[in-house]
Amino acid sequence: MEPLSMNDSMTTDTAYERILWLRQELHRHNHLYHVLDNPEISDAEYDRMMQELLGFEKAHPQFQSLDSPTVRVGGSVLAAFESTAHTLPMLSLDNAFSEQDILEFDARIKKLLQSQESITYTAEPKLDGLAVELVYENGALTMGSTRGDGLTGEVITANIKTIRSVPLLLHSDSPPARLEVRGEVFIEKKNFQKLNQERLKKNQPIFANPRNAAAGSLRQLDTSVTASRPLDINVYGVGYLSEPLSHSHWDRLCRLKHMGFKINPLIRPCLDLHQVLAFYRELGENRSRLPYEIDGMVIKVDDLRLQESLGIKSRSPRWAIAWKFPAVQATTRLLSIEIQVGRTGVLTPVAILEPALVGGVMVSRATLHNEEEIERKDIRVGDTVFVERAGDVIPKIVKVVTEKRTGNEIPFQMPTTCPACGARVNRLKLETSDTAEVAVRCINTQCPAQLKENIRHFASKAAFDIEGLGTKLADQLVESGLLKSYADIFQLTAEKLSQLDRMGKKSSENLIRSIENSKQIPFNRFLFSLGIRHIGENTADILARRWGDLDMVMNQSADILAETPGIGGVIAESIYSFFQNSENRDVIQRILAGGVRIQSPPCSETRGGLDGKSLVLTGTLSRFTRPQAKALIESAGGKVIGAVSRHTTYLVVGDAPGSKLETAQKLGIEIIDESGLLKLLGISENGEIP
Ligand code: IVH
Repeated sequence: MEPLSMNDSMTTDTAYERILWLRQELHRHNHLYHVLDNPEISDAEYDRMMQELLGFEKAHPQFQSLDSPTVRVGGSVLAAFESTAHTLPMLSLDNAFSEQDILEFDARIKKLLQSQESITYTAEPKLDGLAVELVYENGALTMGSTRGDGLTGEVITANIKTIRSVPLLLHSDSPPARLEVRGEVFIEKKNFQKLNQERLKKNQPIFANPRNAAAGSLRQLDTSVTASRPLDINVYGVGYLSEPLSHSHWDRLCRLKHMGFKINPLIRPCLDLHQVLAFYRELGENRSRLPYEIDGMVIKVDDLRLQESLGIKSRSPRWAIAWKFPAVQATTRLLSIEIQVGRTGVLTPVAILEPALVGGVMVSRATLHNEEEIERKDIRVGDTVFVERAGDVIPKIVKVVTEKRTGNEIPFQMPTTCPACGARVNRLKLETSDTAEVAVRCINTQCPAQLKENIRHFASKAAFDIEGLGTKLADQLVESGLLKSYADIFQLTAEKLSQLDRMGKKSSENLIRSIENSKQIPFNRFLFSLGIRHIGENTADILARRWGDLDMVMNQSADILAETPGIGGVIAESIYSFFQNSENRDVIQRILAGGVRIQSPPCSETRGGLDGKSLVLTGTLSRFTRPQAKALIESAGGKVIGAVSRHTTYLVVGDAPGSKLETAQKLGIEIIDESGLLKLLGISENGEIP
């Protein structure tokens, strides 16, 4: 259908037709984007259609509808939430904390069912959010409510409708008269951080965790506030159904998925208890990498007839259990605050804690970031503190348990001299930060603490990769005076090394061999090894690919460097001033004189020349899978985007392309087939990379 614009001559019938078409398309694109994670149109195109629909609905109020996608924008303001009795109580779950608890749960079920046969379970990640119920009458969402006390909840229909992954209409030609579904509303970790950053900027209090943020966002009387929050939903069960959906819980979830609901993709059927135990371990290992917070796994008997015969006891079903992950928060005492001096001289306070088990790991140190953080959380030495370990990241202090204060706690003061060398420290506002963070930095370029960190960095895997030169040896080499700069590494001999404590002849020779082996180094790793401020692995990689060799990078002005895609002004300035410094130039000369040979990267053209290009894929490719195509495009410097927009460089069309093709044609985007993609990637038709 051709895009129309609203004008006076348009008949009411045509306007209504257009409204219906826009609604249908917006519902479809909304589902593609928020539920299937596979958009067909750009955000801008979606917004344009939404604006058009809003315009039509305003001009023709007689056509307004409670199911219109425009309700997602919010706007209505309630005086208070009404309450509603759930048709069936919203139960809670018993908790299990160990494998033994799960074995007992399984045994209990078998005993009650008087059966020795393996039970099929459905295992689901337990999302840490807020339980809600959604009621659909004849296919349309008519009510959304909170769990409340399980029997009565609050009516939050207008707020629920703003959640993009909640279908307003079921995808079904013959929807049941009444369908009640239950699920968890949550906020993804990255969206939670973004939300808090925005709140900080606006001087608003931040949310303690994604769960609180989700709960706070859902209970807003002004629905446009809820609409502005990045809420999401996963549906995991049902309430009252006017007609049964299936005999199996897993199958029921599949049917709900077909009706348009977002079901967590990790949910899986487990044919016996062994599969359940294996899945729990797998989930625990992957937990920190998931985009949302989970606090355990829910195990449910899959057969609904068995569920029925097992029944419920008071407020929880006998057929399900929540197996919690070990606590990742613990309370312990802050014994002291140590100051660490980093590679660039920045002083970072580190909390020394009374060792405590946090999520199964013994924790005795936690990062405190900077002085402001200590002040903001009012952390004092001697305090009892809440420590949290989120996955693999360094533990942090969440807050002080002020109720446990005795009055003997000592407030912290940042030193005015460097604890490693005694030099005066400078207070600098951090250039890269948009908050008022202050870095306290030791300005002595000869500071041994900085030198130790620089050497550790220089020898690390992503830099020179000198096997055997770790933290301890770096410290020893600096303390003994053998290293005054990282260039001295290439002057070391086995004789000099064997003078050090605990360095025998053999280990000295091994280290010298590692140093020899490190001397052939790719340019990107060489750049990274120098420890230039703001130059991480990625930036070093970009610079190496753009400029090819050391002389080129060393002799560019900051302005020219800043023109490199992916290199901002601050980074360019940092590179420029590093190479302007004659001491640094001297160190580089000495590294090269020590026998180091820098290998230039292949220039970007031979890698396919997709630098800075964005590609969209549609249809099935015959030569590779989507992830393979994506990896190849990315290794040639390109990006793969989900939806076509004006910024798309190429649309790659495979077999049975979707509507992206039409969008690309409309926008005049260059369309290529699989052979075209092979050419761009520099891969010949017979599959060889030239
Ligand atoms: S089933 C009778 N499944 O955990 C079944 N709950 O204490 C009741 N939750 O209030 C819930 N993920 O908020 C179920 N996959 C999942 C869940 C889940 C999170 C929450 C839910 C519920 C609480 C149970």
